[in-house]
Amino acid sequence: MDIARTPATPDGNPQMADAAPEPKEPPLIRRADYRPFPWLVPEVSLDFRLGLANTRVKATLTVHRNAKAEPNPMIRLNGDGLTPLEVLVDGQPINSWSMDGDDLMVPLPGDSHLLEVTTEIDPSANSKLMGLYASNGMLCTQCEAEGFRRIVFFPDRPDVLSTYKVRMEGPKDQFPVLLSNGNEVATGEADDGVHWAEWHDPWPKPSYLFALVAGDLVANRHTFTTMSGRKVDLGIWVRDGDLERTDHAMQSLKHSMKWDEETFGREYDLDTFNIVAVSDFNMGAMENKGLNIFNTKYVLADTETATDGDYDGIEGVIGHEYFHNWSGDRVTCRDWFQLSLKEGFTVLRDQLFSADMGSEPVKRIEDVRVLRSVQFPEDSGPLAHPIRPDSYQEISNFYTATVYNKGAEVIRMMRTLAGPERFRKGTDHYFESHDGEAATCEDFIEAIEEGAGLDLKQFRLWYSQAGTPKVSVVLEHGGDTATLILSQTVPPTPGQPDKKPMPIPLKVALFDRKTGKHHGEQLVTLNEAQQSFSFTGFTEPPVLSINRTFSAPVAIEREVSNDDLVFLAAHDDDPFARYEAMQDLVVRHLCALLSGSLDDKARDAGREAIGAAFAAVLGDGQLDDLMRGELLILPGETYLAEQMLVADPAAIRAEREGLKAWLGTRLESEFASLHAGASAVPTTRDAAAKGARKVKTQALVYLAAGVPGRAAEMAAAQYDAADNMTDRQGALMVLTGLQTPERTHKLLDFYNRFRGNALVIDKWFALQASSLHPSVLEQVKALAEHPDFTLKNPNRVRSLYMPFTGTAQGFHAASGEGYRIIADLILALDPLNPQTAARFVTPLGRWRRLEPGRAALMRGELERIAAAPKLSRDTYEQVTRSLG
Ligand code: TRP
Ligand code: ZN
Repeated sequence: MDIARTPATPDGNPQMADAAPEPKEPPLIRRADYRPFPWLVPEVSLDFRLGLANTRVKATLTVHRNAKAEPNPMIRLNGDGLTPLEVLVDGQPINSWSMDGDDLMVPLPGDSHLLEVTTEIDPSANSKLMGLYASNGMLCTQCEAEGFRRIVFFPDRPDVLSTYKVRMEGPKDQFPVLLSNGNEVATGEADDGVHWAEWHDPWPKPSYLFALVAGDLVANRHTFTTMSGRKVDLGIWVRDGDLERTDHAMQSLKHSMKWDEETFGREYDLDTFNIVAVSDFNMGAMENKGLNIFNTKYVLADTETATDGDYDGIEGVIGHEYFHNWSGDRVTCRDWFQLSLKEGFTVLRDQLFSADMGSEPVKRIEDVRVLRSVQFPEDSGPLAHPIRPDSYQEISNFYTATVYNKGAEVIRMMRTLAGPERFRKGTDHYFESHDGEAATCEDFIEAIEEGAGLDLKQFRLWYSQAGTPKVSVVLEHGGDTATLILSQTVPPTPGQPDKKPMPIPLKVALFDRKTGKHHGEQLVTLNEAQQSFSFTGFTEPPVLSINRTFSAPVAIEREVSNDDLVFLAAHDDDPFARYEAMQDLVVRHLCALLSGSLDDKARDAGREAIGAAFAAVLGDGQLDDLMRGELLILPGETYLAEQMLVADPAAIRAEREGLKAWLGTRLESEFASLHAGASAVPTTRDAAAKGARKVKTQALVYLAAGVPGRAAEMAAAQYDAADNMTDRQGALMVLTGLQTPERTHKLLDFYNRFRGNALVIDKWFALQASSLHPSVLEQVKALAEHPDFTLKNPNRVRSLYMPFTGTAQGFHAASGEGYRIIADLILALDPLNPQTAARFVTPLGRWRRLEPGRAALMRGELERIAAAPKLSRDTYEQVTRSLG
């Protein structure tokens, strides 16, 4: 193609035509098509003239021909909605540039050039929250994955690494604080109340890690001294009134920095580390080099307004973004198919950090619960993909539980196979050998193989095969030998009908029924479709504990008696396995009830077994309350639905609530005394007090199901006595599910008490939208009309509609109205914020696994969305994949 012949017009787009173009299928980007970029861009200099509605940017790029790539006489600079105002090559204005769609094509005759391109943008009109946008009068950026191209024309791909110099100028009264990546090198005042700042980041980075913030902000400042004795200035930047709520974030940051030095040998590498909290944000937070930008939800906390869960979330996300400084920034990704290279590894790092800061087993149980309730359904549904995908239309759709959480599990298995010390040798080798590079998942695996001394040839299948493996387990016994017979199948997923067996590391222990002790935990690895393992020294058939600590992200299938599960729930010395036995007991019981295979007598026997296990947990003086709280959580409705080929959400809800009510009635006095004891514990941030708060609300949850009148009184009293958000939110959650006058009183009190605090008002929406109340659907419709509701703020949208997708009586209403509400939301939100809109397609993708009536209604809503004109790439891709 002769690009030089394309007429270059001042507005640059040769494709402009009179007739509206046919909507065309967005191209499929394939991993196999990766080619290195023909040009290197070692240095970038950005000059910003800032204004909320008009920002002018001049980008200066030094470019050299890339000797390792196929030569090309043009450079493609990605753009998204930009118009070039001026293009200069080596200081001379040129007009030989052209547009290819949104991209700017510039012919470059030589081997090295200086390229200058000026653009103008309107941040106040940027509702997608990608690129440079305005939020509450401040300006901020979000560039991952492809937002930088909404600011300036640039090779916006993660394998182009540059050092950045950034100069910003703007009105001082409006933007007193000017921040960017790296270190501040100069500041000054110009005329007419304009001031400027220059920042320099010495570390080469891809464009997705660029960040800029300009606004009226205040900082919580501290310092951290690194292991080699360098002093780092830390700043957490928020709006004026929020400063008092930043202490926990600061503590979490310091703990993260210290922990990464001690656990992974990673030291911070700049003189400054800044965090900025923004209230309009599409995700949790972003790891921009030296300037992390956070959703306010993961920064602001005090006892009055944040729950214990919020505190843990802040610690985890602060850690996550900080750890990206090495796993993501110093070593970045070659292309977006390698996303799990940084995200899977960094999630594992943040999980290990949180475990070390608190309770390791409780953290493990929480992480497995998320995996099972979010990632397992993804892996068994229409959007299933490997942790390293092969193709995409819109990369934002691949920031998934599979890439993040299953990605973390896969690396955790490597750690289990190697042991922590050898794994550390592997990660040291990875960081040393790829520092400053854009690497691949393959590079990571090779580094672990070399550094840790593992053979991961077959293990690589975990990167390429989607689907949750099923492992069937049979334990035979004869003479003094127990034989474990394991077999695996990996289910077919879209585009992958046939699977190969994968290495599955399973921690097992065999318990002696009489002593209640096992003979030592062992790691067995199932490599083949079927394999047997023998254990001698058992004159009686032992009790099997398998997949301890959840050593592999698989579904275990086996015949096991209630007696054995009750035994493990009482005796297993692995707290995770103990939890697992309790869950298994309940899952089996509810699934049997739902399949209609239990008569009244069998149902009563099942309940009694569960009741006895619960009574043991309630009465166990050795257990700490944080763990007791975990053991008392019933398996969730989505996880239960996952156990069935086709599910009836209403039936699942009814049986699960029925069991809760039975337990609440049967163990009424036990729950009441648990609540009373926990209520006497003073409010502090230590583990015992946190555990007390957790079991306190759990006791209310069971009592609300069994003895609602009594529970309503207790919940109202807990609400009135609350001196912290955990107790207050817990009490209100219980009341919101009940039909009692206290419900209205306390909801109103809560709203008035916290009116104006956006994060707490989000809770107020979420509590109502997730409630067990029979009228949740009407309530959500009314809340959508509430003056505080807006489609413009992603936290607010998520707080109303995400919890709603979990309600059997609302989202899954037999009329289909719940599905219609979500489809309407997607259609209304898509033009404003496609990234957030597309996230709501997932719950509608479950139709194949629902009973036929609801399946047809759900599918109908997907078809209605698909038929809408001008869908975003984000939503289009998710809807077409969901329809399959
Ligand atoms: N890299 C971020 C993280 O894992 C994720 C992220 C933040 C993101 N904002 C985004 C991804 C916007 C896509 C789009 O911490
Ligand atoms: Zn991340």
